[in-house]
Amino acid sequence: WPGIAPLVHGINQLKKSRNAVVLAHNYMTPDIFNLIGDFRGDSLQLAREAASVDAEVIVQAGVHFMAETSKILAPEKTVLIPDMEAGCSLAESITGADIRLIKQKYPGIPVVTYVNTTADVKAETDVCCTSSNAVQVVEHVAAEWGVDKVILIPDKYLARNVAAVTDIEIITWDGRCEVHEQFTAEDIHGLRDAHPGVLILAHPECPPDVLEAADFAGSTSALSNYVSERSPNKVVLLTECSMSDNVASANPGVEFVKPCNLCPHMKRITLENIYDSLKEMKHEVLVDEDVRIEAKKAIDAMLALPN
Ligand code: 13P
Ligand code: SF4
Repeated sequence: WPGIAPLVHGINQLKKSRNAVVLAHNYMTPDIFNLIGDFRGDSLQLAREAASVDAEVIVQAGVHFMAETSKILAPEKTVLIPDMEAGCSLAESITGADIRLIKQKYPGIPVVTYVNTTADVKAETDVCCTSSNAVQVVEHVAAEWGVDKVILIPDKYLARNVAAVTDIEIITWDGRCEVHEQFTAEDIHGLRDAHPGVLILAHPECPPDVLEAADFAGSTSALSNYVSERSPNKVVLLTECSMSDNVASANPGVEFVKPCNLCPHMKRITLENIYDSLKEMKHEVLVDEDVRIEAKKAIDAMLALPN
């Protein structure tokens, strides 16, 4: 990337002078991911990093709910997001008021909330989960509360995918990821016909018939690790497009077939606005202190579970 060298240099200088780190989600474009990300990973890994990193400033190279999670866990740090409009269709699908109504309808049933939600929603939650630990969290909380039913919101596909591998009854919500809901089982059959022997991996936000037809499902980092460990000849990652680019650059011997969908929210984050963010210390993500304290309990309950 010769043209972007001055920008990368400028970002690295600003990181030093501000005592800042960039937390880069797996869906960041390769320039951000490889050249300026200090920590890279899935939602769970970035949350753990935000809680422990020694820095005064966190630049969240990801979407707004991830920046809020960082602020909830690290209130003493300044958390910046380069574009305030970087949202998420799942986070926008449900409010704290919705959760209060669900709790009235199902008293005594624990509420597990996917981290792809606002701080207000997390504040109404018993335990958070991510795509890498959803089954573990649901089973843990059901055993802890002595119940056979758990509310898992807001992603109805993640909920159904969890329900498929546990005996616990799952109550859910009609949220969907606008990126992963587009993949279909027919896509997979077409890919297998066109590329015999191809390994097909899918994110658990995809519809259940997609997961059934895939070879493996997991969080963005689980998919990446699976490719590195197996070194298949040919692979498809049914997830956001930059994942394939990033995993491909780490696995040069593997051929990537790339049907993928772009997340318009993740793609709002660019090297240019990361530079502006550090230079002008914008846009600061703040969370009301009462909400933060309640939301932190739900995230801490998740982080307390073994890795
Ligand atoms: P991961 O937790 O797997 O990184 O997923 C986050 C996300 O937004 C997927 O669409
Ligand atoms: Fe949200 Fe889907 Fe984008 Fe992930 S890929 S941030 S779940 S809209």
